[in-house]
Amino acid sequence: MICDNLSINSSGHLCFAGYDTVGLAQKYGTPLYLMDENKIRENMREYKTAFEKYFPKGSCPEYASKAFSCKQIYRIAKEEGLNIDVVSMGEIYTAFKAGYPMENCFFHGNNKTDKEIAFAMESGVGCIVADSEEELFAIEKIAAQKGITQKILLRVTPGIDTHTHEKISTGNVDSKFGIAIDTNQAKETVGKILKLKNIDFTGFHCHIGSQIFESEPFDLASELMFRFIKDIKNTYGYTPRILNLGGGFGVRYVESDPKISFTEKIADIAEILKKQSNAFQIEIPKIAMEPGRSIVADAGLTLYSVGSVKEITGYKNYVSIDGGMTDNPRYTLYQSPYTVILASRANEKTDFCATIAGRCCEEGDVIQENVMLPKPNRNDILAVLTTGAYNYSMASNYNRVPRPPVVMLNENGDYVAVKRETLEDVCVLDI
Ligand code: LLP
Repeated sequence: MICDNLSINSSGHLCFAGYDTVGLAQKYGTPLYLMDENKIRENMREYKTAFEKYFPKGSCPEYASKAFSCKQIYRIAKEEGLNIDVVSMGEIYTAFKAGYPMENCFFHGNNKTDKEIAFAMESGVGCIVADSEEELFAIEKIAAQKGITQKILLRVTPGIDTHTHEKISTGNVDSKFGIAIDTNQAKETVGKILKLKNIDFTGFHCHIGSQIFESEPFDLASELMFRFIKDIKNTYGYTPRILNLGGGFGVRYVESDPKISFTEKIADIAEILKKQSNAFQIEIPKIAMEPGRSIVADAGLTLYSVGSVKEITGYKNYVSIDGGMTDNPRYTLYQSPYTVILASRANEKTDFCATIAGRCCEEGDVIQENVMLPKPNRNDILAVLTTGAYNYSMASNYNRVPRPPVVMLNENGDYVAVKRETLEDVCVLDI
């Protein structure tokens, strides 16, 4: 199977993290997000161990919590000793309420408002990743008003074109994120930062994109960032204490996706940094990276109940489910591939080709096309694999559909990490 936490039991049911998915669907209802807690911890530990082995002392991975944010994931990140990346007041507040140590929190985003910057400072956020000059001056001003010195990183764009979906590629010169190195603007900004009194300028950040399998873009980014650091040192005599290389490692959604080793990728990056460090005689700063998808994606799976099975003679077949773009908008947005299994009859012959359609009043509400399954019946349970990242976090209430719960699984049992939204919840803000 595509991931080692999947199997099929003697009843022909798909098992996830050792649990019979059909049993869980009966217990909690569908649609249902499942998260394998041990897999999350295993992924976090792999990063943590690789960082300790290959990068300078004090280097630490950050979990990019936009991939999956709820109180429980911040508690897990805290227990596993990972820093976190947050991008909104909502994520800051959730982490804070979960008791996460906010000094280990990095605040990102391409357009932070004054209100958000002040809120981050009041919440004790350790570092703000400044994305533009306006933002830098706003941070300086608000920090001065509060009588504090705020740690910042400067986000720069290294000018790398990644071979990923254009909507999740962010390292190119014309990205809306960061300040471009190529145009010399990043260098000019550094000169201005060094004059600011209420800012502790800790270093640089870049993020080239998401769902990237190749090594070259990361290797190139490491090289370009180090060249930039050298240029900055020569010009201003400034050397960063932290270099953050962002997130972006790809995960396996379908069999044809490669399985990559994060440890090997990190070892490669470390090698490149070492070469540059020797060539330029500049010490390697502490390294940070921000994996999101690769920590939670394969720890997640979504269960649905099958509704109608529509065969349009001579055209195509539709299998409709009780969820869709409201709990997983990724096919609608990016045509993302997914592996789909009929969980209630997982060992039967897959000889029926279908489009898996969601329940929204929208033709584009599709989870996947050309999926091979045993021909499903109403109330069969369908599983979509690898949904731990950017599913729950991107879910919506379109059509006033309540969001499914998140149930976590570990060796002690199954437990609700996020409750199912009720119809009352859907109306809670209406007057
Ligand atoms: N750091 C920064 C600054 C980012 O913008 C992102 C993702 C990450 C780290 C984490 O990247 P990851 O390791 O998860 O690839 N909604 C899209 C993905 C958007 C990614 C946004 N930024 C999707 O569903 O594919």
